[in-house]
Amino acid sequence: MKRELPGPGTVEIVPSILSADFARLAEEIAAVASADIRMLHLDVMDGHFVPNITIGPPVIAKLRKHSDLFFDTHLMISEPARYAEAFAQAGADNITFHIETTPAPADVVKQIHDLGCTAGITLNPETPVTSIEKVAPLCDMVLVMTVHPGFGGQSFIDEAARKIITIRKIVGPDIRIEVDGGIDSQTTPIVVSYGADTLVAGNAIFGKPDRLAAIAAIRNACR
Ligand code: DX5
Ligand code: ZN
Repeated sequence: MKRELPGPGTVEIVPSILSADFARLAEEIAAVASADIRMLHLDVMDGHFVPNITIGPPVIAKLRKHSDLFFDTHLMISEPARYAEAFAQAGADNITFHIETTPAPADVVKQIHDLGCTAGITLNPETPVTSIEKVAPLCDMVLVMTVHPGFGGQSFIDEAARKIITIRKIVGPDIRIEVDGGIDSQTTPIVVSYGADTLVAGNAIFGKPDRLAAIAAIRNACR
């Protein structure tokens, strides 16, 4: 059974394990799970679409046994349609793929929905909003990249974040707009004012010794 994407109207803080200690992932996830979060962001990189390699379905399947959080899976891979089923079977709840990776995004969204998952579309900082205009309303979430995908701990690109304003006009209030890259207590009020409601944070949480305090700082910055 898939977990439900939190409905619209709340701001969700979504820890990204990219900056966690990969040798102790289950413990790292348990540490943030006690902070009243509902979603966990899993960054999948293939060394082809992005210049880094992270985790795949086997690791997600193992993590699934340790966590009941909603697994928000961000595929930074060249052939999302080829691997979507493996990620769904491993325990992904949402599968987000990059518009730059496929000429038939609506087909990939349908495939993800048929697998029982929610679907997200994402775009790189330099990719125009027009590229996702048609597919975004078919999705459950739009992810706006505010860094160049591939690494944690990079600086927030405000010009990319401003796309949230236009995307919110396109999708209305019911589709989540997630933002990923350089999110911390300083940048949170900016992206929330643009219309984001789903805030991925890696370094700002797992880069801090006190993860609960780090999440609280981001939560306070939403208000
Ligand atoms: C970057 C990943 C992000 C990353 C964000 O390619 O998609 O999810 O973890 O990291 P921070 O929050 O450190 O910018
Ligand atoms: Zn990500």
